[in-house]
Amino acid sequence: MHTAKHAKHHASQSVDTGKHAMTGNGHSKPAGEDFHIDVRALRERAREHLDDGAVTEDYRADRDAVVQMLNEALATELVCVLRYKRHHFMATGIHAEPVAAEFAEHAAQEQEHADRIAARIVQLGGEPDFSPDSLSSRSHAEYVPGQNLRDMIREDLVAERIAIESYREMIHYLGDRDTTTRRMLEEILAVEEEHADDMRDLLDRE
Ligand SMILES: [Fe+2]
Ligand SMILES: [Fe+2]
Repeated sequence: MHTAKHAKHHASQSVDTGKHAMTGNGHSKPAGEDFHIDVRALRERAREHLDDGAVTEDYRADRDAVVQMLNEALATELVCVLRYKRHHFMATGIHAEPVAAEFAEHAAQEQEHADRIAARIVQLGGEPDFSPDSLSSRSHAEYVPGQNLRDMIREDLVAERIAIESYREMIHYLGDRDTTTRRMLEEILAVEEEHADDMRDLLDRE
């Protein structure tokens, strides 16, 4: 299996090389695609609106909408931290130890996500909302205490699936209008998918 895959990879590489050689003549790049930038205008624009920091005039997304969206993601992450913490400390029973450790690891990763999102909100000129009063109403995922280990794992899986879908929608919304925020959300999404996978594995083992 591995050998076949390897051979295929080599085959497609040699096809590519052949193509380049045919169109070659020292210039493999098609005409009319040179990178050109008006450096003088760029330098002038950079000197204006210095208060905006990293947000330059060509920022194509709606900054307020992005900040609001990220604040909802922040609330979701913080609620997930609290839920995983609760589950970590409340996990009891014969299979509890490795599950409790998994909950703790997820709580730490959700906290990392919250920190990254808060930092990006500030970079965009917004304010991260850590207000505890409105936290659960702004969060996409719910805080469900869970009565036993199985309940807890199931609720965490539900929350992860909510997070996965909402991150995917945010990524779709941003498109190529704010690639830095999008890339961050894509990285977070990949971790949420691992979390969901972990929870499903635990449910299977229970
Ligand atoms: Fe997260
Ligand atoms: Fe997660």
